[in-house]
Amino acid sequence: MKMAGKVCVVTGGGRGIGKAIVGKFLEYGAECVYAVDLNQEALAELESEHANVKGVALSVTDTAAVNGFAAKVREEKGRIDVLVNNAGVTKDALIHKMSDEDWQFVIDVNLKGPFVMTRAIGPMMMEQGKGAIVTISSVVGLDGNIGQTNYAATKGGVVSMTKTWAREFSRKGANVRANAVAPGYINTPMMATVPDKVLDPIKEKTYFKRLGEPSEIAEVVAFLASDESSYVTGQVIRASGGLVI
Ligand SMILES: NC(=O)c1ccc[n+]([C@@H]2O[C@H](COP(=O)([O-])OP(=O)(O)OC[C@H]3O[C@@H](n4cnc5c(N)ncnc54)[C@H](O)[C@@H]3O)[C@@H](O)[C@H]2O)c1
Repeated sequence: MKMAGKVCVVTGGGRGIGKAIVGKFLEYGAECVYAVDLNQEALAELESEHANVKGVALSVTDTAAVNGFAAKVREEKGRIDVLVNNAGVTKDALIHKMSDEDWQFVIDVNLKGPFVMTRAIGPMMMEQGKGAIVTISSVVGLDGNIGQTNYAATKGGVVSMTKTWAREFSRKGANVRANAVAPGYINTPMMATVPDKVLDPIKEKTYFKRLGEPSEIAEVVAFLASDESSYVTGQVIRASGGLVI
């Protein structure tokens, strides 16, 4: 099993794509998955569904809480094999209507969050000599999108951070890989707010005339998190049903 014995951390693990990643890692034999999320109810539900999940209620933007959490896992398990930076938010508006607050909220969660998490865990992986970091970008980070200046900036930003981490964490002979996944439009609660008049033409543009399912993204993440992708680093894999090829 490709995740056998691995100690994993998945941010935004309470619902949507993150929840699917947690489930996939356990299906593939992970020893333990720490699901980090703001939503305590979702974490309690996740813990009741799976034996090897530990819910951790914190914000990925909270440096002290994140550092404390990483130290605690190291104490409990001695290592972290996999970090998935998945937690993310949107606050869409055309740029002339986008407030400083809308900008900052999205920058904090989607860009600072992966920075804070990776700063706490990446060096630990380097010390271990091995690890895998997978960060969820978006096709919007690669191609842009109307009404998403803030979101596009963060999702493009995590691609360049991923490439930086691939370089930085493989120094001194460390076998730490960093990759990103850029999903297209996926059937999650985040998409529930997007009206059909926006989603229908997007579905039409894909080769399969539908949204993606969270499990289809989780499968790509599991590949990048596992040793099966041992020669893949600094890459972005689009999983968008052919939205752009
Ligand atoms: N759904 C899509 O179509 C789509 C497409 C491309 C990329 N993505 C990206 O995939 C990731 C997951 O998206 P989703 O659709 O599952 O979203 P979602 O809104 O369904 O779930 C996001 C989870 O992140 C948690 N979260 C939010 N802020 C947090 C914080 N500060 N600290 C900890 N947890 C926090 C939420 O509580 C929630 O459980 C995001 O990064 C998103 O940008 C989604």
